[in-house]
Amino acid sequence: MLFEHAERKEKMDNFTFYSPTYFAFGKGQEQEAGKLVKRFGGTKVLIHYGGGSVVRSGLLDRVKASLEAEAIPYIELGGVQPNPRSGLVYEGIQIARREKVDFILAVGGGSTIDSSKAIAAGVPYDGDFWDFYCGKPVEKGMALPIGTVLTIAAAGSEGSPDSVITREDGLLKRGASGEGLRPVFSILNPELTQTLPAYQTACGVTDIMAHLLERYFTRTANVEATDRMIEAHLLTMIHEAPLVIADPNNYDARANIMWAGMMAHNNSCGVGRSQDWASHGIEHELSAQYDCAHGAGLAVVFPAWMTYNYKEDVMRFAQLATRVWGCQMNFANPEETALEGIARFKSFLKSIGMPLTFAELGASESDIELMAHRCAYGNGGSGTVGGFVSLTEEDIASIYRLML
Ligand code: NZQ
Ligand code: ZN
Repeated sequence: MLFEHAERKEKMDNFTFYSPTYFAFGKGQEQEAGKLVKRFGGTKVLIHYGGGSVVRSGLLDRVKASLEAEAIPYIELGGVQPNPRSGLVYEGIQIARREKVDFILAVGGGSTIDSSKAIAAGVPYDGDFWDFYCGKPVEKGMALPIGTVLTIAAAGSEGSPDSVITREDGLLKRGASGEGLRPVFSILNPELTQTLPAYQTACGVTDIMAHLLERYFTRTANVEATDRMIEAHLLTMIHEAPLVIADPNNYDARANIMWAGMMAHNNSCGVGRSQDWASHGIEHELSAQYDCAHGAGLAVVFPAWMTYNYKEDVMRFAQLATRVWGCQMNFANPEETALEGIARFKSFLKSIGMPLTFAELGASESDIELMAHRCAYGNGGSGTVGGFVSLTEEDIASIYRLML
């Protein structure tokens, strides 16, 4: 079924797409880390990792052995926490400069990869690395090369030119972007995600779905190819997530989620079309303020954003509802179909163990105005967010209130 979207005016935008990350996918691929570092020119490596999952699983030792096999010297810096902080980035920059590191190897999830990207950009830069998180792009060649060994399918940082860091002073969670931040290689072994707790797996699935939906809600007309790609990846999440939650060792389900998670965010589904991204901005205030998992915050934010905005383009929401959520199209009342799709999304999120309300996140009504203000204006923002619907500070506060 093709849907008419009369109110959308633009046509597919011109674009360039260059996504030169080398992916090594599958069982045992972490043993290739040393060879890949060498291939991409690394001679002294900083291995960066998180709170210890990679130590406990033995992955860190396997990665170190693969560097040793290639006679590549390395130093280590662990301790990245979810919603990574600027303090450890400054420490990493100092260590990497002192030790004359020329390659950063991230072993972990999106937080570890993002912290690695920040260090990689900060080492050769004369100023404060935070400049990149205030809008200065990290062009190609401006950062040390980064490789990743991914342990959770979620943020998509393994194939994206983005990094998100929280500055402790003022709890500002902000993004940097630019081709210099795209990993030169990423190792994706789905087996490495089998040790994830069900909650983290579900947070990752939710984040992947959010990356797809941020692109789905577009003002650009006639972008059927990318619409269909997004729908395919959403359907994959809906099919595979319950399988992996029932059986954490289901390799095929883990593998499908891992590859879809990369494609959800390397922008192959987002080219040539306007995108929204308000929900991410609204969520980042929650994870900055309460240190909740990004995916859990998105489970609370996205349905609220949809409920607030579906009237902007009812047929797009109805298209999502019928093609992805299996709703019957009500031609006499498309709004009903749109709303049913949102309701099914919420039920799905609940079924995989995600929160749906402020209270479940530990968030407080009294912070709504502060967060809405920061979201609209923090770090020199223009006062509005969102490419599909332009939201003011008051709109953002109203969306937070829908989550109470
Ligand atoms: O720190 P460790 O001990 O490794 O534990 C982590 C952490 O507690 C654990 N974990 C990861 N892999 C595991 C594992 N536990 C057991 N077995 C494994 N195999 O999971 C927890 C969460 O890890 P984290 O790296 O924080 O998860 P995620 O990949 O979801 O990253 C979230 C961060 O990425 C940002 C988010 O805002 C958030 O700060 N994002 C980055 C983006 C990007 N760079 O393109 C885009 C996203 O929209 C997102 O904003
Ligand atoms: Zn995200």
